[in-house]
Amino acid sequence: MLTVENVNLHYGAAQALRGVSLKAEMGKITCVLGRNGVGKSSLLRAVTGQHAISGGSIDFNGTTLNGMAPFNRARQGVGYVAQGREIFPLLTVKENLETGYAPVARKDRFIPDEIFSLFPVLGTMLSRRGGDLSGGQQQQLAIGRAMVTRPKILVLDEPTEGIQPSIIKDIGRAIRYLRDSTGMAILLVEQYLDFCRELADYVYIMDRGEIVHQGMAETLDTPAARRHLTV
Ligand SMILES: Nc1ncnc2c1ncn2[C@@H]1O[C@H](COP(=O)(O)OP(=O)(O)OP(=O)(O)O)[C@@H](O)[C@H]1O
Ligand SMILES: [Mg+2]
Repeated sequence: MLTVENVNLHYGAAQALRGVSLKAEMGKITCVLGRNGVGKSSLLRAVTGQHAISGGSIDFNGTTLNGMAPFNRARQGVGYVAQGREIFPLLTVKENLETGYAPVARKDRFIPDEIFSLFPVLGTMLSRRGGDLSGGQQQQLAIGRAMVTRPKILVLDEPTEGIQPSIIKDIGRAIRYLRDSTGMAILLVEQYLDFCRELADYVYIMDRGEIVHQGMAETLDTPAARRHLTV
C-alpha cells in the first residue's frame, strides 16, 4: 500500500500541496479528482520523485520513498504515466517500450505479451515512430511502457485527456485488468468524473492543494462532492 501523509510541496514560494494525506491499496483503483490547477499532478510528482516534498512522508509497502530518486522509486515498483504522455517522438514504438527496461532485472527485460492483448494497435505499429502515433495511441504506448517496468503501483495522470471515447474505453478496460490480474495498486488522477465513477474503488477530491473529500465512488454524486468539481 502507498501511504502519503501530511505532504507539502512548494514551487519556490508557491505552495501546491498542503498537508495532503491519502492511501492507495494494493488491488484497488484509487482516484483523485479535481479541477485544473488544484495540485493533482504535483501530488503524483511527489509520489514519483519528480519534485521534492517540503514536508510529510511517502511510504510504499513499508519502504520510505522520501528523498529517493525517481529511478530508484521505479525499481521499488512505482510505474508512472505522466500527463501529456511524454513518449519519445523519434524512437519507434518498440524502442519506446524498451526504455521501460531500465529499472527491471535482466531476466525480465522483455515486453510482456499482455501489452499487445490489451492494446493490439501497438503490436501492429512496432516500427512506427512514437511521434507519428495519434494521441490515443500514444497514451496506450505510455501505459504499455509503464507496464514494461513491472510496476507494483501504477500512477496515471489524466490518461483520458484529449482522447477519443473508444480509446478511453480500452484504457478503462486495461486499468481494470491490471488491478484484477496482478493485484497492483492503481493511483489515477482525473478530471473526467464518469471515468472515475466507473473505475474507482475509492475516491479523493482535491481543491487548492488540499484533500477536501474522500469516500467510496458512490459519494461522488453527493452535493458536497459535486461542489468541489463543478466550475
Ligand atoms: N513547475 C512549476 N512551477 C511553478 N508553479 C507550478 C509548477 N507546476 C505547477 N505549478 C502550479 O502549482 C499548482 C498546481 O499545479 P498542478 O499541475 O499540480 O495542477 P493539476 O491539478 O495537475 O492541474 P491540471 O488539471 O491542469 O493538470 C498550480 O497553481 C500551478 O500553476
Ligand atoms: Mg495536472
